[in-house]
Amino acid sequence: PVLVVDYGAQYAQLIARRVREAHVYSEIVPHTMSVDAMLAKDPAAIILSGGPASVYADDAPSTDPALFEAGVPVLGICYGFQSMARALGGRVAQTGSREYGSTVVQLQAAGELLAGSPTQQTVWMSHGDAVQAAPEGFQVLATSEGSPVAAFEDPDRRLYGMQWHPEVKHSVLGQEALERFLYDGARLEPTWTPGNVIAEQVEAIRAQVGQDRVICGLSGGVDSSVAAALVHRAVGDQLTCVFVDHGLLRAGEAEQVEKDFVAATGVNLKVVDASQTFLDALKGVTDPETKRKIIGREFIRAFEHAAREIVAEAGDGAGDVKYLVQGTLYPDVVESGGGEGAANIKSHHNVGGLPEDLQFELVEPLRTLFKDEVRAVGLELGVPEQIVWRQPFPGPGLGIRIIGEVTAGRLEILRAADAIAREELSKAGLDRDIWQCPVVLLADVRSVGVQGDGRTYGHPVVLRPVSSEDAMTADWSRVPYDVLATISTRITNAVPEINRVVLDVTSKPPATIEWE
Ligand code: XMP
Repeated sequence: PVLVVDYGAQYAQLIARRVREAHVYSEIVPHTMSVDAMLAKDPAAIILSGGPASVYADDAPSTDPALFEAGVPVLGICYGFQSMARALGGRVAQTGSREYGSTVVQLQAAGELLAGSPTQQTVWMSHGDAVQAAPEGFQVLATSEGSPVAAFEDPDRRLYGMQWHPEVKHSVLGQEALERFLYDGARLEPTWTPGNVIAEQVEAIRAQVGQDRVICGLSGGVDSSVAAALVHRAVGDQLTCVFVDHGLLRAGEAEQVEKDFVAATGVNLKVVDASQTFLDALKGVTDPETKRKIIGREFIRAFEHAAREIVAEAGDGAGDVKYLVQGTLYPDVVESGGGEGAANIKSHHNVGGLPEDLQFELVEPLRTLFKDEVRAVGLELGVPEQIVWRQPFPGPGLGIRIIGEVTAGRLEILRAADAIAREELSKAGLDRDIWQCPVVLLADVRSVGVQGDGRTYGHPVVLRPVSSEDAMTADWSRVPYDVLATISTRITNAVPEINRVVLDVTSKPPATIEWE
């Protein structure tokens, strides 16, 4: 792999993604990892990322000079560039003047790293210290007003560095520079493609699972669907997918999984209708966290029950279900390795996210992949586009979109309103612009309306369209007024219990995307 050494800023993930976009496999490692441990991973190249620290700060992470003597090509970026310069005997100084944002750099020489670049280019900088003199043996490639040495290289030792952030889109030729390092500097081939990922994973899954039985909790979402398709490619009918219908689904959802997914992949699917059990368990409950815990618990019960049934129904003596497929992605792996416990804002119930004491061994074929790679792999496996590009839908479903007690009648009302909103947003071509659009029923709120000649005393629904990149932060989407108008008119015409449609115009933070 190409190792991306994380110095603690948010840049490492982005760098790792850009390397993957160049079709080279990359992994993130912490800067606290020893050089020996890094070399034990047999890295094809190492990239030192940017970081928040000044190389002069007392607690600044330093770079072991041994890293540069191992014969592995290294690229230093921003903090990593300065740290590299310092470790090899160059001069880094606190200049007092910061360069932040778009900056123009002048080329002194193209070298390998900037081959083909124009003599002037706009890049994105964020630093206080600057490299004043390159270490011995290095050629200076570029300068800027605040950086006497803005990029350098020593192609003989295959060491390269730049003050700016090539991973940021504002660095106009950033991806080119990264590719020059990967292809020319480190002489790597662009072989990390969906086809190769599939071939590798199929082999790994077969080696792990052998002849044993596997199950996968299918939600209809991107991650569980692609994970299931990949495992199915590897072990065929040893896999059974379990779809738990908890009665909190949107209109047409169970049917879509049965029809689209099974038709495209041919997997064994077991649909469990547990809706009455869930409704009973949710009776009288209004507190959001209590709802979430009940749904999580009931889901696990339904799932365990299904696993036992699968074994009984097969009656082939092949034994218990030993493995459980999980659609864990690389960002989850990196984040849980970070070890910083985030505050518990909501207990997320991921359909398929089961506790450890469930006695299954996990199969996680997506643990090395970013979301966009999961989509590419899914398409390559023949997972239908509607699933690959599906918007997120929370595990607890409509249960956390009814503010108040969840009842069968209220679910029906919300389902009807939600189907109209989704249909109109799709018709307007907004599916890819919008991250998702929860429709929320304020079941305990009533307001006065007038329909025909009569007074009504109905409920409001809230439209919550948001745009986001990762759901960690979000902004409310500026959906065109006429689309909103159509949704509002259609909902109030078609759903008699609803006499008001309101728009949520709050970003996250301070609000969250879902209302509960
Ligand atoms: P919030 O409401 O926390 O939502 O801003 C962020 C994203 O996560 C989804 N979400 C969930 N997904 N299980 C899930 O699988 C959950 O319990 C859950 N709760 C929220 C939400 O739809 C949004 O995309």
